[in-house]
Amino acid sequence: MSGQVAVEDFEAMWASLAPIGRAGDGGYYRLAWSEADLACREWFRRQANSRGMVVDEDVNGNLWAWWGGPGPNAVVTGSHLDSVPGGGAFDGPLGVIAGFAALDRLARSYTIPPRPVAVVSFSDEEGGRFGVACAGSRLMTGQVAPEKLLRRADAGNVTMADAMRSSGLDPNRCGEDPQRVADISVFVELHIEQGRCLADVGAPVGVASAVWPHGRWRYDFEGQGDHAGTTRLADRRDPLIPLAEMILATRREAERADALATVGRVEVHPGATNAIAGRASAWLDARAPSAGTVRKVLDAVTSTATEKCHRHLVELTSAEESWSDGAEFSVPLLERIAGCVAAVLGDAPRLATGAGHDAAILAARVPTAMLFVRNPSGTSHDPRESATIEDCLSGVDALTAVIADFLEDSELSGPRL
Ligand code: GLV
Ligand code: MN
Ligand code: MN
Repeated sequence: MSGQVAVEDFEAMWASLAPIGRAGDGGYYRLAWSEADLACREWFRRQANSRGMVVDEDVNGNLWAWWGGPGPNAVVTGSHLDSVPGGGAFDGPLGVIAGFAALDRLARSYTIPPRPVAVVSFSDEEGGRFGVACAGSRLMTGQVAPEKLLRRADAGNVTMADAMRSSGLDPNRCGEDPQRVADISVFVELHIEQGRCLADVGAPVGVASAVWPHGRWRYDFEGQGDHAGTTRLADRRDPLIPLAEMILATRREAERADALATVGRVEVHPGATNAIAGRASAWLDARAPSAGTVRKVLDAVTSTATEKCHRHLVELTSAEESWSDGAEFSVPLLERIAGCVAAVLGDAPRLATGAGHDAAILAARVPTAMLFVRNPSGTSHDPRESATIEDCLSGVDALTAVIADFLEDSELSGPRL
C-alpha cells in the first residue's frame, strides 16, 4: 500500500472511472458482463495493482482486492460497479472508491494490517440485465441456486452463463463459496443514500438500520395484433389495455398499503403506431417494510391484471424474477459503527431504506453494516444522482474510522458483533 492520498487520489479515482459506460446524457450503462462492466473490472484491477494489493476473482465473478493477503478474520468493505440502464455515477462506485481511499488512509498507520482487509466489488448487483438483484453476493452466500440464475436470458437472448463464459468465467464453477464467506469477520458497505433522509436532517453520513424486503415480477400479456384503422373496438384483443390497468393498480395498491410499487419497464410487440400490439410485457417492482405488505400489493395487482385480461380476452402469465428478504442490521454492530462515525463527524442518523444492497444479502450470513452518504436531491437510478466531494470525503473519514476500529479489535469475531 502506498500510504499517501486524500482528495487528489479520491478525485483521480473518480476521473478514471467516470467515462466508462457513460452515455451522452450522463447516464451510465454498465450492465453486468457488458463491455463497460468489463472495463470497470479492469479499472478495479488497476486500482488494486497500483497499491500492491492482491486481486482475486472468485468463482462468481466478484472481485476482491486484498491488503495483507486473503485469509480468515477479514474486514471487508466495498460495493458494486455495475449500474441500472441510465443510472447515476455514485450508486455502487462510491462504496468501492471510498473503500480504496479508506485503506490508503490506513496505510499511513500500518505497513501490514493486523488482519486481512479487502475491498470487494460484487458482480451484477442491480440485476439490470438478467432480472435478479445481487446475483454475485447471492451466489457466493448460497442464497440462489446457480442453475436458476445461469439460464436467465437478457433482452438479446444471451444467457447469464454465456455472458459469464465470454468474460472468461466458468459458469460450471458458480455457486456457494463457504470458505470465502467464513473468512469474513465483518462486512461494511458504504453507499450513496437513495432518498432525502440525510439531506432533511442536515447530516453528511448515516448508518443503515434496515433494508426493506422487495421483489420483481414479470407480467406477459398475449393479445392479437391487428390493423389500428380497421379493427372495430369490440373485436380487439389489445394487450395494452389490461397492461395499462395493471400499472394504475400498482400505484393505487401501493398507496393503499403504504408501500412503494413501480412499473418502470414495459415492452410492446411489435411497437407500431398504426397496429394493435400482439403482445406486451410489464415488470413490477414492489417494496415495503414487511414482506406481508409486499405480497398484499402483489396479489392485488395480479388480481386486477387477471380480471382486466379476462374482460379483454387477453392471456396473462406472471412470474417472480427476484425476491430479496431485506435485513434488520444487528443493533450492537450498527451502534458500534455509529459510535465510530460520531467520533469523527458527530451524531449519525440511523435510517431504513427501500433500496436493495449486497449488504442485505451478506447480513444473512456474516456480521454486516452499512454507511450512507448524503444525496442532496435524493435522486438515484438517474443521471441526476449526486453527492458533494465534501460529503464523499466525510464518508471516507467515517469508513476509515470504522475499519480502524475493527483492525484494532483483537477479539473480532462473529458472535461478539
Ligand atoms: C438496487 O439499487 C435496487 O434497490 O433495486
Ligand atoms: Mn442501484
Ligand atoms: Mn447500489
